[in-house]
Amino acid sequence: MGLSPSLSPLRAYFERLGGAGFATWVPALARLTERRLEPAVHGDLPRWFSALAALPRPTPGQVVLDAPAVGISGMIGLEDRARLRNALMELHPWRKGPFSLYGVEIDSEWRSDWKWGRLAPHLSPLAGRRVLDVGCGNGYHCWRALGAGAELVLGIDPTPLYVMQFLALAGLMGSPRTAVLPLALEDLPADMTGFDTVLSMGVLYHRRSPLDHLRVLRRLLRPGGELVLETLVVGGADGDVLVPAGRYARMRNVWTVPGLATLESWIANSGFQAVRMVDVTATTTAEQRSTDWMRFESLAQALDPEDPGRTVEGLPAPRRAVVLAAG
Ligand SMILES: C[S@@+](CC[C@H](N)C(=O)[O-])C[C@H]1O[C@@H](n2cnc3c(N)ncnc32)[C@H](O)[C@@H]1O
Repeated sequence: MGLSPSLSPLRAYFERLGGAGFATWVPALARLTERRLEPAVHGDLPRWFSALAALPRPTPGQVVLDAPAVGISGMIGLEDRARLRNALMELHPWRKGPFSLYGVEIDSEWRSDWKWGRLAPHLSPLAGRRVLDVGCGNGYHCWRALGAGAELVLGIDPTPLYVMQFLALAGLMGSPRTAVLPLALEDLPADMTGFDTVLSMGVLYHRRSPLDHLRVLRRLLRPGGELVLETLVVGGADGDVLVPAGRYARMRNVWTVPGLATLESWIANSGFQAVRMVDVTATTTAEQRSTDWMRFESLAQALDPEDPGRTVEGLPAPRRAVVLAAG
């Protein structure tokens, strides 16, 4: 596998992926990963790679994967800690977290641990499972899945900054059992399959065709595997789907926000069995907010100041549902 030196942390991961039953697809995934992270692809990539190169290499400490703040603890000098903080800040904005790295606390825009807390009690035990996390951001939930015993986790996300954030974390925490690859769901080989658990969280409403998204998720699961789907929802009767005319909560690319019954029937009609909604929660400005690590505007600026039950566009404020189903 001809990975460039900057991607060498992924080498051991690709070997594990091959050993876990996915060998047929490893060469194509590695090639695409390499291509998507070529400096010419995104103007900021050279700066981000410099930030990775500037990370200090403290003595490896204790890796923590089963606590809200994922990360690593251990001894680090004050100068190295400042270098670490500065290098990580070059990878701003940190949307998913929190992470705690040698005393540097990454307080991300989202309390991603809250989402994990809502779904983890309902999951089939992850011990020994091979997990795919589609649209995983920087991989926060990939680490949590490993912490819950998964054998191997593949995260994919087409946003290169999130992959760079993952590479920074992996450089410090060093696990060959998870990786975030710079791929969209559509980039996975058309015959790829075999995952025991597939997570798709916060992605469905970004897809123009939610049913096509569900069909591909089902193909990626082994028969009887578990789907974990999390998405924005609206209240309302069966058949209701919000199709925003313009932005939704200031987001440009939200295409379909289903009602609860509609979401369940989409999943069942896509061939999944035993569909069950395990959580519906309104997103609050305590869960999604601006911080030092995400200095842009956040949910508070997307809600109507007179009526926090509405977005600034006059639409129902964000609520999210978690649905489990068997493939
Ligand atoms: C709202 S975030 C959700 C992140 C994480 N799954 C979570 O629940 O916290 C949506 C992510 O989906 C990614 N995404 C968008 N289109 C995608 C696609 N076609 N395939 C895979 N990921 C996609 C985005 O880059 C973004 O990181």
